[in-house]
Amino acid sequence: MAYAIETKEMSRYFGDLCAVNRVSLQVPTGTIFGFLGPNGAGKTTTLRLLLGLLELDGGSATVLGYDVATEAEAIREHTGVLLQHDGLYQRLSVYDNLEFFGRIYHLDKVTRQARIRELLEHLGLWERRNDNVAQLSRGLKQRVAIARALLHRPRLVFLDEPSAGLDPMAAVALREDIQSLARKEGTTVFLTTHNLAEAEKVCDIVGVIRKGRLIAVGTPTELRARTGKLSAEIYGRGFNDSVIAAVRSLPQVNSVLLHNDHLQVTLEPDTEIAPLVSLLVREGVEVEEVHKGQSSLEEAFVALMQEEDNEA
Ligand SMILES: Nc1ncnc2c1ncn2[C@@H]1O[C@H](COP(=O)(O)OP(=O)(O)OP(=O)(O)O)[C@@H](O)[C@H]1O
Ligand SMILES: [Mg+2]
Repeated sequence: MAYAIETKEMSRYFGDLCAVNRVSLQVPTGTIFGFLGPNGAGKTTTLRLLLGLLELDGGSATVLGYDVATEAEAIREHTGVLLQHDGLYQRLSVYDNLEFFGRIYHLDKVTRQARIRELLEHLGLWERRNDNVAQLSRGLKQRVAIARALLHRPRLVFLDEPSAGLDPMAAVALREDIQSLARKEGTTVFLTTHNLAEAEKVCDIVGVIRKGRLIAVGTPTELRARTGKLSAEIYGRGFNDSVIAAVRSLPQVNSVLLHNDHLQVTLEPDTEIAPLVSLLVREGVEVEEVHKGQSSLEEAFVALMQEEDNEA
């Protein structure tokens, strides 16, 4: 199967509000797909449509080859899910929660025990296995919910903001897990996130949704290149207002921002950096380090939102 997820003109209304507006999307099997967009854009609604938890008002969609309208049960059997609400039994222990879901997925006892232990150890929860879920911190609950999503080694996992509430170490560990799942087991991952730096690191392809419409799809590199801007960070001493004014007056400079210890400059595509550095030196700046690169996914995302605002 070439595509783990394929939608054609998929739409969903809530009253007059078009939460998902004719979205046509293809997610190749084995890829990590990041679904990005501002609050209320339609990400969670899309995910619920793909799981057959909500009915489509228009178009069609298949997940692992199953039709969301008629074969939702098969979809839920073969996918793992982490929704924004964790769906755990608060009064059961960590272990018993996973035990319960393992039975639902028809894992035999030996497989279940081995898999639960493997996941809990990996997620740093083995010591906490007998605690009731209700007693856990938000981030620890999130880890249990992640373990549940991966329990039956699904071919496709849907993760709605998986790193929300995780500490940086746990977020890195999760990222590595997601990548190794995709690489080693060929699992397809469909995730939503507001963390664009994370999306840039982990996703093969990202899609951007805004007000229910899919406005861009591509690799993070492609999306970054779409805005075409370069960014330069210059570390050094002696930045002052007149230096900043001088940089700003260069024709190829779009914007200048002074941070604590460096100057961040956005430049037109294909700008040479040497004239900028010479100018700084002439102005008396002691330049220590210069980094030049394509703008980040976050900058591209902001630019994309601004473009759409201008068109609206
Ligand atoms: N059950 C519902 N009834 C009415 N409106 C809804 C319902 N679920 C979602 N919506 C609306 O549909 C739109 C899309 O919501 P959705 O939850 O998909 O956004 P999201 O992209 O997941 O946002 P966030 O980043 O905040 O999680 C929003 O305007 C939301 O208020
Ligand atoms: Mg959401």
